[in-house]
Amino acid sequence: MEAYGEDIGQHSWVSAAELQSDAVRLRLGQASGLLDLGSGPCGPLTFLIAQTGCRGMGLELSPSAIRVGQARAEAMQIQERFSAQVADLNNPLPVETGTVDAVLAIDVVLHVLDRSALLSEVKRVLRPGGRFLFTDAGIITGVITNEEIRLRSAHGYTQFVPMGWNEQRLKDSGFHVLETEDRTESVVRNAGGRLRALANHREELITIDGAAAYEKQIDYVRTVADLAARRALSRYMYLSEAVEAKT
Ligand SMILES: C[S@@+](CC[C@H](N)C(=O)[O-])C[C@H]1O[C@@H](n2cnc3c(N)ncnc32)[C@H](O)[C@@H]1O
Repeated sequence: MEAYGEDIGQHSWVSAAELQSDAVRLRLGQASGLLDLGSGPCGPLTFLIAQTGCRGMGLELSPSAIRVGQARAEAMQIQERFSAQVADLNNPLPVETGTVDAVLAIDVVLHVLDRSALLSEVKRVLRPGGRFLFTDAGIITGVITNEEIRLRSAHGYTQFVPMGWNEQRLKDSGFHVLETEDRTESVVRNAGGRLRALANHREELITIDGAAAYEKQIDYVRTVADLAARRALSRYMYLSEAVEAKT
């Protein structure tokens, strides 16, 4: 709450207001099937299911995050429209071809080894004309030092790409790019909130996680906040549509 404004269980820079507008972009409704890639503990996914009445499936590397997501769906009484399973986005998606209406990927594509391979998989599972929306918080829009790159990569493998790179990969993979939007301001806002929450709960967090983990988290969030505030690293939203094959 202190970190995000409205806490919907997100583990990313997304806000509830962004998700509400993205539900419209993805044309989500009771008849839609949504696939959420890198769903984490499924905060955004359960929020979208509850808001729109769609069916939703999360794919996520972390088994514990999946368990948290399942408990969350049960607590929200949406478990009949929810499913989630462990999957590595570096492998083919465990989803049948042409069966999904909309795909979402919030702040995860920068951790995937081969983005073009993932985009091809998204194209394969989407029905023709289905929509894909993702956010990428790793767009290079200014000067960044090697130390900042190191601190910003605290969560493992991380790709930073120039402006226009994602649009080209989308086109190459059979998507029509409908819209892009600069969402760096949400990083500035959320990282600032996270820093305040970390400061307010310093003692208890150090007791739970230890001083080294606490300091690492502070360094990470401060770096993210600084890079976003001076627009050296930006976060963008990409909305695209799977191009229907010509017969
Ligand atoms: C920044 S979090 C975003 C979580 C969620 N989308 C949200 O907005 O709350 C990125 C998530 O991607 C997951 N992830 C990273 N690499 C992955 C991979 N190769 N396959 C599946 N999930 C992955 C992480 O475990 C983490 O839960």
